[in-house]
Amino acid sequence: MGMTRSIRLDDLAATDAFSARLAALLGAADVILLTGDLGTGKTTLARGVIARLCGVKDAPSPTYTIVQLYDCLDGGELWHADLYRIEDPSELEELGLDEAFDTAICLVEWPDRLGEHLPPDRLEIRLETLEGSQTGREARLTGYGRWETRIDDI
Ligand SMILES: Nc1ncnc2c1ncn2[C@@H]1O[C@H](COP(=O)(O)OP(=O)(O)OP(=O)(O)O)[C@@H](O)[C@H]1O
Ligand SMILES: [Mg+2]
Repeated sequence: MGMTRSIRLDDLAATDAFSARLAALLGAADVILLTGDLGTGKTTLARGVIARLCGVKDAPSPTYTIVQLYDCLDGGELWHADLYRIEDPSELEELGLDEAFDTAICLVEWPDRLGEHLPPDRLEIRLETLEGSQTGREARLTGYGRWETRIDDI
């Protein structure tokens, strides 16, 4: 069913620190699914990971390109995807996302579009705004497969 854990992110600095802890754990074939309403911070969190692993500051949102590809400083690829505009799973096959799941570090916004392409080993991070706060977020982590035991390390 997946193991769950909640982390409170009070402000941007907390989200950045969380992205650094996450980045330190990631390697080839790790898939992170970022869920949550518009503007909850999925891209912000991904940007923090990309800054650490790829040395790219201010990574653009893949809203229109759907996928942005990066080379990791230690080798390997990082895929940052935003599937919001995907309307049919056949588009996912064209992107080559299945292969990327097996080889690259993948950060995927709007993964509800994946359908049967959902990989068995994955970390889902659901971001929600904290009531009464402009910058507060709750990150709800659920690990599946290999990630069931790894979420305690973040
Ligand atoms: N604690 C926080 N963590 C993340 N973002 C925060 C936080 N506090 C404020 N923000 C702000 O919230 C906004 C989040 O925008 P972002 O583009 O990351 O959201 P998103 O979830 O990717 O949205 P979309 O669904 O449109 O892709 C940014 O302007 C960011 O500065
Ligand atoms: Mg986004």
